[in-house]
Amino acid sequence: MTSEKEISYIPKIIVAIDGFSSSGKSTMARELAKRVGYIYIDSGAMYRAVTLFAMNHGLIAGDGNVSKEELIRALPSLDIKFQPSAGEDGIQHTLLNGKDVEQEIRSMGVSHNVSPIAEIPEVRQRLVEIQQEFGKDKGIVMDGRDIGTTVFPEAELKIFVNAGVHERARRRWRELVQKGTDINFEDVLRNLEARDKIDTTREVSPLRKAPDAVELNNDAITHEEQMEWLLKIFQERTENL
Ligand code: DC
Repeated sequence: MTSEKEISYIPKIIVAIDGFSSSGKSTMARELAKRVGYIYIDSGAMYRAVTLFAMNHGLIAGDGNVSKEELIRALPSLDIKFQPSAGEDGIQHTLLNGKDVEQEIRSMGVSHNVSPIAEIPEVRQRLVEIQQEFGKDKGIVMDGRDIGTTVFPEAELKIFVNAGVHERARRRWRELVQKGTDINFEDVLRNLEARDKIDTTREVSPLRKAPDAVELNNDAITHEEQMEWLLKIFQERTENL
């Protein structure tokens, strides 16, 4: 599955990977896309980019209150794109109105403000439209919360990833510390718990396992075992197409 020749024969399907924050779904999705020559889209990055826009334009007050009307008016002018990895980090970068915001959208400030933004129906509607456009030719792996339920309910392969909240907080905390962020574990844990609650209870497109999704709990498996599992399912779903 790694040679260029083989990749050109891989049929194009839509792979939807949903799950809780920091469950490792983005890493899985990115690696699968790379292995099979698909486009990778991180839909969470798109909600983060809208949040950064709102923060930079004074649309989120100190108490977290969002100026929804103004944000909704600005939505048509927002251009969110992804730049294939060119840099040394090998990671695809998110562009907001042409500016690389990959670092900024991963900050704790954005993490704290993103849930109320992702609850706004007009924001979701706009981002879902863009996401569906990205997937119109298939050959795409997209990760998020509502990809298998709302964005691509017809996706040929749906994965729902889960892990305990403490394990996810540990992973997220380690990642932030490695990037040089001075943050304590309890803050990361509280942020994840709060986001889990909002993600699963919001009215529009709450995080749910699609009935036809395959569930993976990756609490106790290695990264390699997870990728082996994922590639096997992908092969099974594509070999008879
Ligand atoms: O995957 P992430 O943690 O980077 O996502 C950031 C936030 O965006 C998350 O708190 C929930 C929201 N989100 C969403 O509501 N729907 C998606 N498809 C992806 C993310």
